[in-house]
Amino acid sequence: MARAHIEFVQTQSLAWSPRADGALVKVLSRDPATGEETALVRYRAGFTGAANRDEAGAEEFFVLSGTLEIDGRARGHHAYGFLPQGSGLGARHSARGADLLVFRHAPGDRNAQAGRAEVLAHDTPAMEWDVSTYNPGLSHLRLARKVLRLGPGDSGRTFLLAGMPHGLPRAEALPAEWHDHAEEMFMLQGTMWAPEGCQRPGAYFYRPPRIVHGPHVSRDGFFQIMRSPGANEIVTHWTNEAYPLPLEPAFRPILPEGSPEEWARSFEGEVSW
Ligand SMILES: [Fe+2]
Repeated sequence: MARAHIEFVQTQSLAWSPRADGALVKVLSRDPATGEETALVRYRAGFTGAANRDEAGAEEFFVLSGTLEIDGRARGHHAYGFLPQGSGLGARHSARGADLLVFRHAPGDRNAQAGRAEVLAHDTPAMEWDVSTYNPGLSHLRLARKVLRLGPGDSGRTFLLAGMPHGLPRAEALPAEWHDHAEEMFMLQGTMWAPEGCQRPGAYFYRPPRIVHGPHVSRDGFFQIMRSPGANEIVTHWTNEAYPLPLEPAFRPILPEGSPEEWARSFEGEVSW
């Protein structure tokens, strides 16, 4: 069983659950067969935790707010890290609290093991934006990116993606797209108009391979963290048919059967997660 298609949920609508180590979590997506999982994790002020256990899957994280010290090094605003399974890393302490987005890799995934997967610690605000190449089919979004990780064995890329405000084409309709790999996204700033609704900060989706999606346009500009599990290079296929642009779209999320009622709740309040 693979991870279900979720497109999309405003994570503000989900409740925090306590975890055994004292942190609070919102599990956004999980593969019950492999244990791979994406979650928001909230460490309250004064939190202290031991290093990751050898049997726990690799931890890939992005700091949304606050500061957390990991293995003695402070990770603040938009810090990114990758702690391979079996690395003995991950001892943590937060004096004032921190909110993280965590991509937990499947325990036993060889592409995420110490020795094969690299330990990463990026201060992402200090990285250069790459505006050199992008798909001409998405030129209306005026995209820029920062690649945070290329997994070994073509196992997936993690990157920051931003688009300028006024990202609307002159056309009234555009083709939709699909990929042979999955896509996963968390919105950090701005908004994206999609056929499923307006993705605001805190929006999250997990899109399995070969799901037709789009078109996407952005009136306000956007800044998001994205992953392409299963491929380091994004290959986009386009539909022959063009679809009307989703202008000020209503919230019509695609959610797995049995999702809690609040996952379908639209969110228009203050920005937070
Ligand atoms: Fe896509």
